[in-house]
Amino acid sequence: MQKIKKINNFNLTDKKVLVRLDLNIPFENNKVLDDTRIKASIPTLNEIIKRKGMPIVISHFGRPNGKIDKNFSLIKVKKSLSKHAQKKVIFCNDCIGPKVKETIEKYKFGQIILLENLRFHHGEKKNDVKFAKKLAKNCDVYINDAFSASHRKHASIDKIAKLLPSGIGKNMEKEIFNLNKLLKKPKKPITAVIGGAKMGNKINLINNLIKKCNYLIIGGGVANTFLKSNKINIGNSIYEETQLKNVAKIEKNAKKNNCKIIYPIDVTISNKNNINILDLKNNHQIFDLGKNTMQLIFNIVDISKTIIWSGPLGFFEKKPFDKGTNKLASYINSKKKIISVAGGGDTISALKKNKKFNNFSYLSTGGGAFLSWLEDYSLVGIDVLKN
Ligand code: 3PG
Repeated sequence: MQKIKKINNFNLTDKKVLVRLDLNIPFENNKVLDDTRIKASIPTLNEIIKRKGMPIVISHFGRPNGKIDKNFSLIKVKKSLSKHAQKKVIFCNDCIGPKVKETIEKYKFGQIILLENLRFHHGEKKNDVKFAKKLAKNCDVYINDAFSASHRKHASIDKIAKLLPSGIGKNMEKEIFNLNKLLKKPKKPITAVIGGAKMGNKINLINNLIKKCNYLIIGGGVANTFLKSNKINIGNSIYEETQLKNVAKIEKNAKKNNCKIIYPIDVTISNKNNINILDLKNNHQIFDLGKNTMQLIFNIVDISKTIIWSGPLGFFEKKPFDKGTNKLASYINSKKKIISVAGGGDTISALKKNKKFNNFSYLSTGGGAFLSWLEDYSLVGIDVLKN
């Protein structure tokens, strides 16, 4: 296994540098909702230009399933990218083929080339070598700066790295450095907070966290599945039927590993706060945690030295059901001595909306990638660069 090359290890003068960014950012009415990922990409783009290279940006955007779909065009991101980089961005409406060659021929030094959504081609998700070859065709170096997409075994993350001299960009370097430093040998007691709507994609993660953590706090739709599995009437609340059987296994595993799981004891429903979970009726729907549960969580935070957080605790997009998430964010933020790491698009978006995140030790740009990394401290896009 080799050491991963960093952007600084390459001579970039007159080189066409294919940079994989994650420009998969949230929009509302054609306005960028959260530009964290764009901002995180700027140091690498600046570095390439400073070292006299040509940045050719590739990214996915949404899930267009291998078809051209204007709603998922990366042209939407062009303006914001240009604003943050303070450079002219030239957009090419394909990411492979003759149009890319033409765009490169017209390039003027100091500009950024942005290619169209990789996922307009089936080859991307299929990790197809022919597609990767087409991406690599016009370029000299490949730089992966898309930490948050590096859990995907896709052509622009995996196959491409085998075709060009490859390394990581500044954002990727920062993510790996911080996550390794803060979470590889974390200070105990360790508390993990897992929320969000679904637990289906988090089973491996939860089972792994149980082995490392002293406390596991469950919120969001995930908590409903836990309550339901424990024969609590959750009324009309969202939960995952297929995951009910996994809850018992997780609970058994937690006991074996001395990890205490914290469930909601009271919740907020549409028109009532702090309703005891035993008083829920068939027509009730859980939207957030209750006051007593929040106090229970604060008590755990008080005795923790490391907190890992992914997933909002309630239906945070809609006021007042963002209270639990916001209160926890503010509480953790007030504890300057705790190592606190949060990740996931929704979690970061909630933290930024609440504005109290300046004392968090680190906010990862990764959602699924952050969770994947936590499972075994590796990602497809990092591993391929080691070999
Ligand atoms: C993300 O937003 O987590 C990444 O961009 C990955 O997107 P995906 O889940 O559509 O692969």
